[in-house]
Amino acid sequence: MLEIRQENKEDYDEVYNVVKTAFATAKHSDGNEQDLVVDLRKSNNFIPELSLVAIQDNKIVGYILFTKIKIGEYDELALAPLGILPKYQKQGIGKTLIEKGHKIAKKLGYHYSIVLGSEKYYSKTGYIPASQYGITAPFEVPNENFMAIKLNDTDAEITGIVEYAKEFGI
Ligand SMILES: CC(C)(COP(=O)(O)OP(=O)(O)OC[C@H]1O[C@@H](n2cnc3c(N)ncnc32)[C@H](O)[C@@H]1OP(=O)(O)O)[C@@H](O)C(=O)NCCC(=O)NCCS
Repeated sequence: MLEIRQENKEDYDEVYNVVKTAFATAKHSDGNEQDLVVDLRKSNNFIPELSLVAIQDNKIVGYILFTKIKIGEYDELALAPLGILPKYQKQGIGKTLIEKGHKIAKKLGYHYSIVLGSEKYYSKTGYIPASQYGITAPFEVPNENFMAIKLNDTDAEITGIVEYAKEFGI
């Protein structure tokens, strides 16, 4: 059975290896996603409730992190990274982690999450090109790969340029 829970300190080494292994064969990777997680945990923008692990077969098989970023003057979220161990991919675990993250994010009062990634994948959990909301990246990126989701239909539209936490190195 799949369990999703908040990451704790005892998970750090296992999460490091899960993220490293997940991205080792990924199409788009800078090879540093596991180190980005280490850096982001030390950031003021780290949100412990949005650092989630997926557990199956008594081990961590997936990890997701949402970090605080700015969209214009608003505090919102960026999803990065998301990684599932190769053997456990395409079983709905990534989708479950994203949806659980969105649910917690809403409870914490956030309105938007942005992500840089595959439009084919993230569109399955409601992400659309961020430009459609008037949200723009602080770097050059193909329109379809810089995406956002409005977490509640009733949330006000916000527009602006995204400012990442400095740990992203952007
Ligand atoms: C990309 C990744 C996170 C997807 O996680 P996952 O648990 O395998 O995905 P899910 O099983 O939840 O898939 C959900 C849906 O997306 C589809 N999907 C899965 N991987 C996909 C991919 N790489 N491209 C397009 N669609 C994909 C699935 O077929 C499924 O579609 P359905 O709901 O219509 O059946 C995972 O493959 C991974 O860790 N990859 C390596 C690291 C990486 O690239 N991370 C993302 C950075 S942008």
